Amino acid sequence: MTQFPVVRMRRLRRTPTLRALVRETSLAASDFIYPLFVTAEKNKRKEITSMPGVAQLSVDGVLQKEIESVVQLGIRSVLLFGIPATKDATATQSYAVDAPVQKAIKLIKQTAPDLAVMTDVCLCEYTDHGHCGIIKNGAVDNDSTLGILGKVVVSHAGAGADVVAPSGMMDGMVGAIRKALDGAGFAETAVLSYAVKYASAFYGPFREAAESPPSFGDRKSHQMDPANVREALRECALDIEEGADALMVKPGLPYLDVLRAVRETYDLPLASYNVSGEYAMVKAAAKNGWIDERAAVLELLRSFRRAGADLILTYHAKDAAAWLRETPGDA
Ligand code: PBG
Repeated sequence: MTQFPVVRMRRLRRTPTLRALVRETSLAASDFIYPLFVTAEKNKRKEITSMPGVAQLSVDGVLQKEIESVVQLGIRSVLLFGIPATKDATATQSYAVDAPVQKAIKLIKQTAPDLAVMTDVCLCEYTDHGHCGIIKNGAVDNDSTLGILGKVVVSHAGAGADVVAPSGMMDGMVGAIRKALDGAGFAETAVLSYAVKYASAFYGPFREAAESPPSFGDRKSHQMDPANVREALRECALDIEEGADALMVKPGLPYLDVLRAVRETYDLPLASYNVSGEYAMVKAAAKNGWIDERAAVLELLRSFRRAGADLILTYHAKDAAAWLRETPGDA
């Protein structure tokens, strides 16, 4: 084997241009999906304490302004979460035509017709108990929840959503959603499945943002055990069989090995969700001057691409897009 001093790995690391020429993984604003939280308030932007820079937005000029800045930065997609005015046991606001998400989809499509609008599909923001489905005998009931998810996606597609993203980890959810969409004439609406979603401690800040913590128990009866990876591949196989158009692994950083395994096993477009707790950690450390935020964020976003993600859901999207605009191909 040829080796030192004939081989010198440092030759191609010598200048920024040489490093850029041999860079194996790209990172661009067009890889990002930016999550947004929309409310039933009026003319109000409410910052989330544990997620600096992220806010709940009212569906009016406040949301429009945010959309304009997202588009201006070259981001091509958003994912919507709704905080309804009222919650009940059966999540009726999740499929109401005049609820925040349904109104936001319409407003975004008027403001920025080319922006891809995705919606998170889960009941936890809409139930008064904060669980992802209908409660029967003290537990989340899988099959009666599926019918409601069908109503939710039809209402989102009817408002103009391009992609629906079921995140509740109910068995059969992708099939039920596909059937509901096709039955209502929305054969073109795509399904991005949160196929592999772990019962993670890193969702903490999100539950403040979405006002959706469970009032009793936890989500371990439906979200995956963090110790498992073979099970993740089974989840993907089932969702593909049920008609998923794209897959997601969530959270991001603690599950890069899972992302790699899914990438190597399946050909579908693959997304990684860099979740709220991961964002909060970076923001807290940066605020204390303990890490260089820009360098750290670009490095971690690139890790998702390197591990196999096509798309990255991240609260850093706007900052990262701005940094990449200043110095394309940076990091
Ligand atoms: C469920 C949902 C959650 C997240 C996205 N969709 C919360 C949960 O499962 O408890 C978490 C996202 C994040 O932490 O950034 N609607």
